[in-house]
Amino acid sequence: VPKVKVIHSGLEREVMVPAGGSILDAAVAAGVPVEGTCGGKGTCGKCRVRLISGRAVDPTPAETRQIPPEKLSAGWVLACQRPVADGLAIRVETAVESGPGKESLEGVAAVVAAEPVVEKHFLRLAAPTVDDQQPDLERLLSGLPLDGVLAGPGVLANLPRTLRESGFEVTAVLAGRRLLAVEPGDTTGRSFGLALDLGTTTLAGYLVDLGTGKTLAASSLSNPQRSLGADVISRINHVSENPGGLRQLQEMVLEALNRLIEDLLSGGAVAAEEVYEAVVVGNTTMAHLFLGIDPSYLAPAPFIPAFRRPLEVTAGELGLAMHPGARVLMLPNIAGYVGSDTVGVMTATGLDRNQGWRLAVDIGTNGEVVLAGGGRILTCSTAAGPAFEGAHIRHGMRAARGAIESVKMDQEVTLGTIGGAAPAGICGSGLIDAVAGMLRAGVINPSGRLADPATGAAHLPPGLRDRLRKTEGGSEFILASGSQSAAGEDIAITQKDLRELQLAKGAILAGIRILLGEAGITAGEISEVYLAGAFGNFISRASAVAIGLLPDIPLERIIPVGNAAGDGARLALISRTERERALSLADRAEHVELSARRDFQDLFVQALYFPG
Ligand code: FES
Repeated sequence: VPKVKVIHSGLEREVMVPAGGSILDAAVAAGVPVEGTCGGKGTCGKCRVRLISGRAVDPTPAETRQIPPEKLSAGWVLACQRPVADGLAIRVETAVESGPGKESLEGVAAVVAAEPVVEKHFLRLAAPTVDDQQPDLERLLSGLPLDGVLAGPGVLANLPRTLRESGFEVTAVLAGRRLLAVEPGDTTGRSFGLALDLGTTTLAGYLVDLGTGKTLAASSLSNPQRSLGADVISRINHVSENPGGLRQLQEMVLEALNRLIEDLLSGGAVAAEEVYEAVVVGNTTMAHLFLGIDPSYLAPAPFIPAFRRPLEVTAGELGLAMHPGARVLMLPNIAGYVGSDTVGVMTATGLDRNQGWRLAVDIGTNGEVVLAGGGRILTCSTAAGPAFEGAHIRHGMRAARGAIESVKMDQEVTLGTIGGAAPAGICGSGLIDAVAGMLRAGVINPSGRLADPATGAAHLPPGLRDRLRKTEGGSEFILASGSQSAAGEDIAITQKDLRELQLAKGAILAGIRILLGEAGITAGEISEVYLAGAFGNFISRASAVAIGLLPDIPLERIIPVGNAAGDGARLALISRTERERALSLADRAEHVELSARRDFQDLFVQALYFPG
């Protein structure tokens, strides 16, 4: 079995990878998640690593296409294209950032009264005597203010000792009618829960005080499964093509969640045993992978998930770093590509509660659309593809340090980057801004074609004209030159990037139009549009309308709501009423399967055009 050395930010690890495996497999095995956007097809160029030692081999055709010549000669290769060989050493310069990120403590959701499912009762029990021979469990249960409480043997294991060592003064922890734990003394002031949002690109978590309903800590991590593909389809394929693939993906997400939980707990000084419940949302594929359920039949039509209803497991069964008896509730999904994260968005935005028609668009790796009004809730999902998360875009990246997040374009180009760092790539909001600016300036026409620098750019101001360049694949527009950028390479928007963006935004707009048609209303009748998703807060509303991601709606009706999916999970964690509501919203939703609609294709083709 070949041994490979993986070096990343000062750490060195040697891993064994079965012959026939790739360098990408070695990096994954070493716990250094390299970006594997295209799922190892050699088409995205994001899995670049540097060979330090090992046989010099000619570049593969994919490498010649994806890596500039000066980097090829410096030893850069595509990790997914290179089989492992004994004695190989690689250096990973940029990995999927795996450190915790910031999530907002405050959400858009209305503040609700804490009404948790987990309750604590402090009991002062009489000690047994020869005249009072009641067994320990019965003694405890008879002290509780409610009947019919069930207790498993797990809770009983230490009960006799706990009772006696605490002088029969204990706190019973109940999850509904299930006895979860018995703790010595009065611990009624300490009861915590987790809300988790499993995104294809990002895992987000919130630590909540169940007594007050307050969020104590919020954090996020990049989903390490990204090494095996940026979108859910490549991960489903990984499961169907590799025995052990399901287990591998499940372990990746659980291991990352435990890191996330550790981060949340250390921030709030809470012990894992004090976390008694988790409510989890995620897209349908992530829900399968998290629970270890085969998602293979989600990929081909008719896109059937293994389950729809809410599912419950214990933290102990999954190996999550919480109280082992804690219940982990996965909220229900709606369809193969409309998951419990959309149920979370509906819950948090109160979409169904108000008068008039409301639209929610969750732009992540997929685009989910919900239209509610007139007593109906319609949903659809569009295979938007992960363009907005930076995948399939030559210099695309997730919204992390150095990402170009805003672009102003008039006579010149002004860039805003996350953290004010040197530009490292473009994230979704930056891409949308850039394209809106290019459209306005005439760098591209409404069909999405970039001006030809030789023959079609005379009308442009020199500050823009000089950024256009002809390449083999068509024209491209340079946003940041190599001298400005973090990696010393030009950061450009290519003709192919524009096509990817058009596909993504076209799919979302066509999905919105189908739902409008289904409801029999026009875009003008929508009173509010909620823009959810990781970058919903950063996206410029004007740019979103300018590129035709959203229909032409007055900007003041568009409300960015950030991670509304996670907010919905928080509400369902804090409040039984909200939990019931989330479950009924999922039941009420009418899913419109776009692939079954004859009119979708025409609307999609129309929606590929930029307005103008
Ligand atoms: S080129 Fe290697 S994962 Fe895409």
